[in-house]
Amino acid sequence: MLKTHTCGELRAGHVGQEVTLAGWVNRRRDHGGLIFIDLRDRWGIVQVVVSPDAAPEAYKVADQVRSEYVLQVTGVVRHRPEGMVNPNLPTGEVEIEAHSIRVLNTAKTPPFYINKDEKVSEALRMKYRYLDLRRRRMQHNLILRHRIVLFIRNYLSERGFIEIETPILFKSTPEGARDYLVPSRLHPGKFYALPQSPQQLKQLLMVAGYERYFQIARCFRDEDLRGDRQPEFTQLDLEMSFVERDDILDLIEPMMIALVEELSDMELLTKPFPRLSYSEAIERFGTDKPDLRYGMELIDVSDIAGKSDFRIFTQNVAEGRPVKALCAKSLGGYSRKQMSELEEIAKESGAKGLAWIALPEGGEVRGSVAKFFPEELRRELFERLGAEEGDLILMVTDEHKTACEALGALRVELAHRLGLDDPDKIAFAWIIDFPLFEWDEEGQRWDPSHHLFTSPMPEDIPLLDSEPGKARGQQYDLVCNGYELAGGSIRIHQRWLQEKIFGLIGLDMATAKERFGHMLEAFEYGTPPHGGIAMGIDRLAMIMAREPNIREVMAFPKTQQAVDLMADTPSEVEPEQLEELHISIKNG
Ligand code: AMO
Repeated sequence: MLKTHTCGELRAGHVGQEVTLAGWVNRRRDHGGLIFIDLRDRWGIVQVVVSPDAAPEAYKVADQVRSEYVLQVTGVVRHRPEGMVNPNLPTGEVEIEAHSIRVLNTAKTPPFYINKDEKVSEALRMKYRYLDLRRRRMQHNLILRHRIVLFIRNYLSERGFIEIETPILFKSTPEGARDYLVPSRLHPGKFYALPQSPQQLKQLLMVAGYERYFQIARCFRDEDLRGDRQPEFTQLDLEMSFVERDDILDLIEPMMIALVEELSDMELLTKPFPRLSYSEAIERFGTDKPDLRYGMELIDVSDIAGKSDFRIFTQNVAEGRPVKALCAKSLGGYSRKQMSELEEIAKESGAKGLAWIALPEGGEVRGSVAKFFPEELRRELFERLGAEEGDLILMVTDEHKTACEALGALRVELAHRLGLDDPDKIAFAWIIDFPLFEWDEEGQRWDPSHHLFTSPMPEDIPLLDSEPGKARGQQYDLVCNGYELAGGSIRIHQRWLQEKIFGLIGLDMATAKERFGHMLEAFEYGTPPHGGIAMGIDRLAMIMAREPNIREVMAFPKTQQAVDLMADTPSEVEPEQLEELHISIKNG
């Protein structure tokens, strides 16, 4: 090793020892004859002092070094002089009196400060990701991520799970996104698909008798990117045999509690995790991934609004469409401009408009529909919503789901504006009893709301023939702070039921056999009842690192346009490579 100690570990107890350190120049200061270098490595920073009298050769070198030079320093650890102790630095009681300094490598001036947490454009950070990763914030995030994964591996291994790797070059495993395809050189015109998840393979491992499998698995999905979505991401993927829904929930819930309690100082608000049915989540929060760090629930006010003089309300209520409302505390002073911003958000979620009543502090009740609510009715409305002076009431009427979703989007926005989405807090919940299918208007067919392999509730199987839209799936999601963190289900393990589902989603038998024949066949060789779950490691690390997007917890993420700016990829390839792969590029 080129070093005897790390920069971060030196304490008063090391005083008097000779040490050799190696690391980067975090900062260099020239103080009237003495040169101070803050030397940094992965473990921390320590101050090196170079004196022209005590070490003239080292001083000459120190005089030339710049930020981010790589140095090897040998010297003696000593107490910092009286009054010079830095309580903000773990090594702040000591410094190294340098005897010799060797420049292991020089560095150009970096395009942004490594030693300051200042705002740098995302594009610059991504282009120089290796420098960005030197920054303390990114180091902290990647170390936290490592600890999360290590915790999970240990937790599951101790409970009889084994980690098994599954192939990346496989066949299409649909999870609702487009596949990334890999052309085969040996088989012209044929392609592998990168797995959107190891779903089929983990089920086949259950057929194979492994009973308790997990994997920290890379998944690939070609879909529109967002802050919580990357084209490749990592799941904790898990599957168990001979289980029912609650066995999976009862395994994961204590793991998450222990993980948060052991690895973070976040305040865990939900213990045990509440279990909400899908319809309850929509009804109360307008989303199937509610943020439970705060209240501000949606409330049905159809009975009250139906008695108002506002025609859209009365007409909709008469025709069975609800009026949903929420009360935003202390926002009664919102201006018309602010209200039209909110209305835009409601419209983006499909609402036709946004009705509001404000109760300004000490002022007249006002708002777009205030005049349609007589005094008595207002009182009833305020009481239902717990509205007081200073508050703002928002109302949307539409088809049930649209009204809930629009108000749900406003709930998230307002909570953010009010600072209720406190990153120091963490709130989990299970969402259960999902519908098995969603109706796809465009394709005129049923789409699985989770994936093809989710089992219906046994008591709902007869509904598959009569009213598939009413059948519930044995599916569960784990949500956290407004994100979907994990999803899983009890699987189908009988060929006839799997074939029936294929039929309902419009897969003809020939296609089903071509794509999933191996699954259907496996189901005929003693497939145990089984189920599992997969959790987004990136999303979990993002929340625990209090970061706003998953790029901050991935070493080398892609941009929103699915590009790696550092390596400049995707990129063109040599014509010979295309030739070998039997590919020609149109207009290329
Ligand atoms: P699902 O598709 O719900 O389920 O994915 C599970 C979890 O993976 C994370 N996730 C993502 N994270 C980052 N970027 C993405 N593009 C992305 N897509 C998904 C989320 C999500 O909750 N095979 C099933 C699981 C099962 O049934 O066992 C599956 O993959 O956190």
